Amino acid sequence: MARPPAYVCTACGAAHRKWAGRCDACGGWNTIVEEGAATAPGPRARGRALPLSDLASAEPDPPRTVSGMGELDRVLGGGLVPGSAVLLGGDPGIGKSTLLLQAVARFAGAGLSCLYVSGEEATAQVRLRAARLGLTAAPVRLAAATALGDVLATLEAERPGLAVIDSIQTMWSDAVDSAPGSVAQLRQAAHDLVGFAKRRGTAVVLVGHVTKDGQIAGPRVVEHMVDCVLYFEGERGHAFRILRAVKNRFGPADEIGVFEMTGAGLAEVPNPSALFLAERDRPAPGSVVFAGIEGTRPLLVEIQALVAPGPPGSPRRSVVGWDSGRLAMILAVLEARCGIPFAGLDVYLNVAGGLRIGEPAADLAVVAALLSAREDAALPPDTVVFGEIGLSGALRPVSQTENRLKEARKLGFTQAIVPSRSGASMTDGSAEGDLRLRRMPDLATMVGEIFGAG
Ligand code: TYD
Ligand code: MG
Repeated sequence: MARPPAYVCTACGAAHRKWAGRCDACGGWNTIVEEGAATAPGPRARGRALPLSDLASAEPDPPRTVSGMGELDRVLGGGLVPGSAVLLGGDPGIGKSTLLLQAVARFAGAGLSCLYVSGEEATAQVRLRAARLGLTAAPVRLAAATALGDVLATLEAERPGLAVIDSIQTMWSDAVDSAPGSVAQLRQAAHDLVGFAKRRGTAVVLVGHVTKDGQIAGPRVVEHMVDCVLYFEGERGHAFRILRAVKNRFGPADEIGVFEMTGAGLAEVPNPSALFLAERDRPAPGSVVFAGIEGTRPLLVEIQALVAPGPPGSPRRSVVGWDSGRLAMILAVLEARCGIPFAGLDVYLNVAGGLRIGEPAADLAVVAALLSAREDAALPPDTVVFGEIGLSGALRPVSQTENRLKEARKLGFTQAIVPSRSGASMTDGSAEGDLRLRRMPDLATMVGEIFGAG
């Protein structure tokens, strides 16, 4: 018996029961197509009982290959796992191909046989880039192809240790009756390539383009099939690039690696705090240094705020690098708990360097930046700030306090404004070398102590 046809949105992957001109999940027009009406399996075949094992019989840790690019190896969880499938997502032009070409050259240098399949650029173009990056001597095998069957046959013949597919969106299988780049093609290509990785022990890296206008779901539909999902992020105008693990079956998620795009490819940034603070000059109103944690690594970044009178009615709230819902919450708490209104004031908030912060620990630094901008008063110099704010105005300690303080001390900061119960082992006002802790029980106290208002 044939199943009724299913419809799927090629932009976001949402399933629909019937065709429509507009996808109500992502709002895209003309994106819904019929998915190959598969036939249901016949009468259920009788199964065999599966052989079972227990947890203790787990195999030892698979040996990983280390590329020597510390920023990449750490994000992978300590090197590349054989047979693993990795998805590398990111905006077009952000540097995915550059990163992977540099990475395969390093992995090849470490003794792994590497194959690079480009579906977007001709081999000559890839060679040109390799020449520019000074990698022509690396023993990397190269092919330009988009036919999935050909790619799989090549992989089967070569059995490399690492295969890069750049990009998954360009792979095209004639077994699937829909256009290249559609969700059905994407799924098929990912399924076959991940299957190959598991079968033959080849690590496979799939590149997936993400675009800001709704296409974000493109690579998302294959996220669940792979072992590791990395996103390569950065602002176009900035040279910094962040490689972020959002899923990793073989290591911690939320780990980041920091790179800088230079004329000769991506350079590793082993000490990102110094880099993110390098552009900062003297303490200015509205500028606050937040001691954050990305994955396992502390990272100091500058948070900038600008508060200016706006037109009556609805003032502007503009945020770059942070969550705008969280900013609305902070403004509401400041008004309700400290009596500091922002009505009639435009608020701009920016995380310097193009970094995106997701931690609630930045709350207190954001408050400090907002108040510093509003009162036109700079914070004391060499001060870092962190802590989470509750709706009651209470301040909550955050994880890894000591790590944050250690990084701040390393970079020459002398004072930290933190929630009361932070760093239990340290005493108030002194402690931890020459870093002075200023503990704040709640928001109102902090506002009074630091800005003499509230
Ligand atoms: P690319 O790796 O092609 O991006 P993606 O594969 O994510 O689409 O990167 C392209 C950009 O990187 C392009 O704008 C030029 C820049 N770039 C450099 O600045 N320096 C370099 O050495 C290289 C190779 C690229
Ligand atoms: Mg590319």
